[in-house]
Amino acid sequence: MEESRIALPIGVTLDRFIKNNQEQFQFSTGELSQLLRDIALASKVVNREVSKAGLIDIMGSMGSQNMAGDQQQKLDVLANIRFTRALTKGGEACALISEESETYVDLNNDGKYVIAIDPLDGSSNIDVNVSIGTIFSIYRRKSPAGQPIQSFDILQKGAAQVAAGYILYGSSTMLVYTTGHGVNGFTYEPSLGEYFLSHPNMTIPANGTIYSVNEGLTNSFSEGVNKYIYYCKDKKYTARYIGSLVADFHRNMLKGGIYLYPATSKDKNGKLRLMYECNALAFIAEQAGGKASDGKGRIMDVSPLDLHQRSPLFIGSVQMVEQAELLIQS
Ligand code: AHG
Ligand code: MN
Ligand code: MN
Repeated sequence: MEESRIALPIGVTLDRFIKNNQEQFQFSTGELSQLLRDIALASKVVNREVSKAGLIDIMGSMGSQNMAGDQQQKLDVLANIRFTRALTKGGEACALISEESETYVDLNNDGKYVIAIDPLDGSSNIDVNVSIGTIFSIYRRKSPAGQPIQSFDILQKGAAQVAAGYILYGSSTMLVYTTGHGVNGFTYEPSLGEYFLSHPNMTIPANGTIYSVNEGLTNSFSEGVNKYIYYCKDKKYTARYIGSLVADFHRNMLKGGIYLYPATSKDKNGKLRLMYECNALAFIAEQAGGKASDGKGRIMDVSPLDLHQRSPLFIGSVQMVEQAELLIQS
């Protein structure tokens, strides 16, 4: 194939795009834009490290556990350091919730924003060269300044998010985000060190034929959830499950599909975390015309009581999520 036929035109950089769209933000002072740039910068550093897995000593376990009792991988810890450092520098954020930190991390007391982050999602896939990701969610604090109040400034509903996004370290690295005005995706060009707009105005097909679930857990799902899984089989849908939420969600967003991580008999609220996994992707799903539910209702309407609260998740194409809700509640 001739190069001219396969090369994409070099278009709008992430920086330029953020600048051009800054006036869409409700309280436009440039601080949210700076936060997005800081996240993008940290993701480039993490991407560089991810792509060297196997060459430098970043694979494998740290031998420690995070607050949820999960084994921490070296890259979990490293990614957490990279994002925390990048978000501390600018002073825009007052607090950071991370999967890797038990309590929230105090940043700048004058900062207007609160960030929730899963620095490295899909960490069981690091050592086997399968796609992994980062998920982030940004809120505006409610109190004007000073030490943020956890129950008031930090534990906000997903519906209050001002921005959310993810980075997918896949066959190429992509950053996808929303500020509540649609969803846009940017692909990283490593030799230039820049993200370029490659997927403008992303939308999820209203219906699809892919279902993504850890079917090994079927015996511990509710009858309603299993009814939906049988429904998918009856329809001869395609099963696709990577085990990296970001990668599974991204594929389903492009192709049409549903991702489900239901409650199990052991984990009554499922496995995924409301504040830095479910809500961020729910905001993106809704902005792309899709839907996100905890099986009972809209996930972004749930009032969190804990930084690391878990929630069942049913997310993706609107018709598929509605069908799942119908059978779960039947
Ligand atoms: P993390 O690596 O941040 O702990 O997240 C892992 C999550 C999610 O990415 C994935 O979809 C899910 O766990 C997989 O869980 P199972 O192995 O139970 O299917
Ligand atoms: Mn995760
Ligand atoms: Mn993680």
